[in-house]
Amino acid sequence: MRLLSTLLPATCALALVVNPTAGHSIDSADLSSFRRPSFFSRVSSVSWLRKQSPILISLPDHAQNADFISWLSLQSARSFEGILANIGPNGANVAGQNVNAGVVVASPSRDHPNYFYHWVRDGAITMRALVDEYGKSGNASVKALIDAYVDNVRSTQWTSNPSGQFGRGGLGEPKFEVDGRPFVGTWGRPQRDGPALRAITLISYARTLQRRGASIDSLRYLYDLIKPDLEYASKFWASPGFDLWEEQQGLHFFTAMVQYKALLLGQEISLDFDDDGAARWYHIQANGLKQFLLSFWDEERGYLIETLASPRSGLDAALLLGAIHGGSETVFPMHSDMIIATLQALVADMRVRYPINDQDSYDSNSLPIAVGIGRYPEDVYSGGDLGNSELGNPWFLCTATVAHTLYGLVEQLALSNSGLIISNLTAEFYLPFISPTPVVEPHYCDFSATGIWSRSAAILGFTPGSRETEQVISNVFHYADGFLKIVKKHADAEGNMSEQFDRQTGFMRGARQLTWSFESVLAAIKMRERAVEAIEKRRAYFERF
Ligand code: NOJ
Ligand code: NOJ
Repeated sequence: MRLLSTLLPATCALALVVNPTAGHSIDSADLSSFRRPSFFSRVSSVSWLRKQSPILISLPDHAQNADFISWLSLQSARSFEGILANIGPNGANVAGQNVNAGVVVASPSRDHPNYFYHWVRDGAITMRALVDEYGKSGNASVKALIDAYVDNVRSTQWTSNPSGQFGRGGLGEPKFEVDGRPFVGTWGRPQRDGPALRAITLISYARTLQRRGASIDSLRYLYDLIKPDLEYASKFWASPGFDLWEEQQGLHFFTAMVQYKALLLGQEISLDFDDDGAARWYHIQANGLKQFLLSFWDEERGYLIETLASPRSGLDAALLLGAIHGGSETVFPMHSDMIIATLQALVADMRVRYPINDQDSYDSNSLPIAVGIGRYPEDVYSGGDLGNSELGNPWFLCTATVAHTLYGLVEQLALSNSGLIISNLTAEFYLPFISPTPVVEPHYCDFSATGIWSRSAAILGFTPGSRETEQVISNVFHYADGFLKIVKKHADAEGNMSEQFDRQTGFMRGARQLTWSFESVLAAIKMRERAVEAIEKRRAYFERF
C-alpha cells in the first residue's frame, strides 16, 4: 500500500486532480470555473492495491440471463424494423400517407398526441443509426433510405419557415410537415441542436462512404449540405433557443455538446475539402464552446445542469444524451466524472419520483437496483394521450440512455490499464459496487493555500486487477443491464415502445412506436456489445499472467 499523496509535491496540497471532463490533468484555464468553498475538503489516503494476482471478472451469468440475452437480440432487430416502419415513403406505418422519401416520422400517432411530423432532431439521430448499420452491412436498401434522407435535407434546408430562410435563421426550425411543407403553427422555435445533429450524421455518412471506397471529391455534394449546418452551429451557439424538449428558452448543455461535436468533426472535414478558412473558423468556435461547456458544471450541486439560469433543478436525462451524442475524448465523454456524478444524481431523484420505482434501492447482494427514468424532475408532460394525468412519466429513451452511458463507462474501464480512480465527485456512485465497502478515512486538507479547490480530488485509487476495480466493472455492467430490463418489462411482446410508461401502472403512454425510443434502445444494445467485447479483451489480457 502506498499513499498517493506521497507521490505528490506537498502533502495533499493538490491531491490528485482528475480532469472531470477528460481524465487528464486539468489545466488552470479549466480550473478557473471552479468556485472555492469556504470549508476544508475531505481527502483520504489512496491505497494502490496490487501485488496479488489479478481477479478475473466474469460477465453476469448468461445461463441465468438467457431470457434477457435472447430479448436483446430480438429487441435490436425489432427496434431496427420499428425505425424503418416510420420512414417515408414506404415504411409500414407511413406508406400511402403522403410522406416524402427520406422523411423520418417521429411516431405514427396522429392525435393525442400528433407526432406525425418530421423533427430535424429525431430524424438526424435516427439516420445516424442507419448510417452505422450501412457501415457494417453495406446493405443497399439501407443506403437508399439514407440517400433519400440526404435529398430531403437539401430541400428542407431551403424551405422558408417561421424560423427564417436559408442562410437567415431557417435552419433552426425544429419540425416540418411530412410532405416537406413548413410547419406554421406556434412552436418552441428555434431549436439550435438540429443542424448540429444533422451535420454529425451527414459527416459520419461521408466518412462511411469514404471507408467503402468513395473518393473525397465524389462527396462534395454532402459537404455542400454539411457546411450550412456547420455555419449555423458556429454562428448561433451563444444565442438562446429552445431545448431539445421544446420547452425552455435559453442556453442548453445538450445543444452545446452536439454543436461542439459537429464543429470538431466539421473542422476535419472542411480541411479535406480544402476549405481552410472554414476549418480555422470552426476550430476557433469549437474552442469557445469548449470553455462555455464548463459553465454547465454546478460545483455546489455537484452535477451538471441542462439549462443555464433556469429555475429548475438542472438535472436532466438530456445531460447524458449530450455525452452520448456530443461527447468526445476531450469534453464530457460518457465515462467522465462529471457525467457519472450527474447520472448518479438523476437516478437518485428518479428512484423516489415515480411510484413504479418504489422498491428497495439495493438487491440481495447490496447492489443498487435500476429504475425507470424520466426526462427531468419537474416534468409534467404526460405524453398527450387521452385519460392521462398531468404528471410526467418515465421514458423509454431516457431509461435506455442511462444504460447506454453506463455501458460506455464499462467499456472505458475495461479497456483502461490505469485502474479505478474514485473522486469526491464519484464516490457515491462507485462505493456501492465494491464489497466490502472501502473505508474512506476522512482526511481534511486545506486547499486554501493553493487557492484551488475541486471536488474532483481523488480520494481512492485501485489498480487494474484488484478486486475492487474488477468488481466495479462487472457490477456496473450488471447495473446497466438492469435499466434495459426495465425497458424490456414495459415494451410489449412485439417489441413496440411508445414514448413513456405510466408512473403508476407501467403501461405504455404517449406517442406509440416512437422512432426515437427504438433508436435509443438499439444504440444502448450496441454499446452493450462493445462493453462485452472490452470485458472479454480484458479477461484475455489478464489470463496471460
Ligand atoms: C417531444 C420531445 O420532447 C422532443 O425531444 C422530440 O423531438 C419530439 N417529442 C418528437 O419525438
Ligand atoms: C470565411 C470562410 O471562408 C468560410 O468558409 C467560413 O466558414 C466563414 N469565414 C465563417 O462564416
